[in-house]
Amino acid sequence: MANVTVIGAQWGDEGKGKIVDWLASRADAVVRFQGGHNAGHTLVVGDQTYKLSLLPSGIVTGTLSIIGNGVVLDPWALKAEVEKLSGQGVKINPDNFALADNCPLILPLHRDLDGLRESAAGAGKIGTTGRGIGPAYEDKVGRRAIRVCDLAHLDALDAQFDRLCAHHDALRAGFGQKPVDREALLADLREIAPFVLQFAQPVWKRLQTVRKAGARILFEGAQGVLLDVDHGTYPFVTSSNTVSGTAASGSGLGPSATGFVLGIVKAYTTRVGSGPFPTELSDEVGQRLGERGHEFGTVTGRKRRCGWFDAVLTRQSCAISGVTGIALTKLDVLDGFDKVKICTGYRLRGKVLDYYPAHAADQAEVEPIYEEMDGWHGTTAGARSWADLPAQAIKYIQRVQELIETPVALVSTSPEREDTILVRDPFLD
Ligand code: IMP
Repeated sequence: MANVTVIGAQWGDEGKGKIVDWLASRADAVVRFQGGHNAGHTLVVGDQTYKLSLLPSGIVTGTLSIIGNGVVLDPWALKAEVEKLSGQGVKINPDNFALADNCPLILPLHRDLDGLRESAAGAGKIGTTGRGIGPAYEDKVGRRAIRVCDLAHLDALDAQFDRLCAHHDALRAGFGQKPVDREALLADLREIAPFVLQFAQPVWKRLQTVRKAGARILFEGAQGVLLDVDHGTYPFVTSSNTVSGTAASGSGLGPSATGFVLGIVKAYTTRVGSGPFPTELSDEVGQRLGERGHEFGTVTGRKRRCGWFDAVLTRQSCAISGVTGIALTKLDVLDGFDKVKICTGYRLRGKVLDYYPAHAADQAEVEPIYEEMDGWHGTTAGARSWADLPAQAIKYIQRVQELIETPVALVSTSPEREDTILVRDPFLD
């Protein structure tokens, strides 16, 4: 049975929500494998609106939902989200929700550090979501994290707390802050532990069972490839690997399980937070894209930066993530432009590049080389077949797929599930 891995192929916010919801409604299990509650999407089912940050999208429809070991978990954020959704009538119990017992925790000290660093960085700040994501991943690779399974052994955690607090107290002192209040932290963990532990298990094992039974698994990526800690616009990235390969390591199933890689690609480009953005438009065109595309962050409410489609970056993301096919979203935001532009290369100090260089200074300095196309005056919103699209919009889609060297699997033409042109069904591929 085919599985599907969904990833964002730009800087996040590509419109993964709708595509993931549609796929989740046809999956037997949905797995989050990286990131944390820095992600966010809004689900509309009937007359109800659900806001998810941490829970996999399948939860709303009762599909088995799994948080893998690659996620960093804020237990209080989890509880708040579970309570909010339960209040809306969503049933969440150990039958339909499982949490990796080897998942590292985000603690209040991580959120503190995230905020302290960002405040101290001035103009050089990353523009994080302030959720403690980076510091929690640092502690994971630094081998001092408290993990979900530790919540069952809080009386035996002295040595781990020593390591963790020695590290954080030194950093806090540098910011003129008091040491970590160990007693308060321990008391908070004791209080939250039973709630978290009811869902904790070796999820790699549960996934093996599900897989052997022939289930369809959907791996739900968060953020986007250009925010990947290795392949993104470092250091202006998140602290996890957002590429498709993480679906394997972040869930405990091997790479052969990850199946069709669906890259979500917005018909133009946006970015939230700091960092280079070659096709960014600070003129009225950028403003128009932002207004028409409702480009405000789901988690932080920040205004997103907007620009023309960058085929160089997207081709690179698709290659790095082994994208099988893309879902092109928000094409209707380009409706009504006389001319549309696509970035097809960069100029850097007299040289032409067909890729995005790794060095931050080069990334900031590249100048986009544009190809201009005629726009279209009809509307693409709500189109459900190629015949519904203006001819020039089809030309745009064809040019995008040619330039990124990756086929279009589907085109999404509005937030409604049915407003989709399906070329290849990822689950049946
Ligand atoms: P962090 O993940 O909170 O550490 O933030 C690091 C960078 O990733 C910042 O530029 C954030 O704006 C960006 N970021 C994190 N999560 C998302 C997301 O879900 N969508 C878009 N950008 C994100």
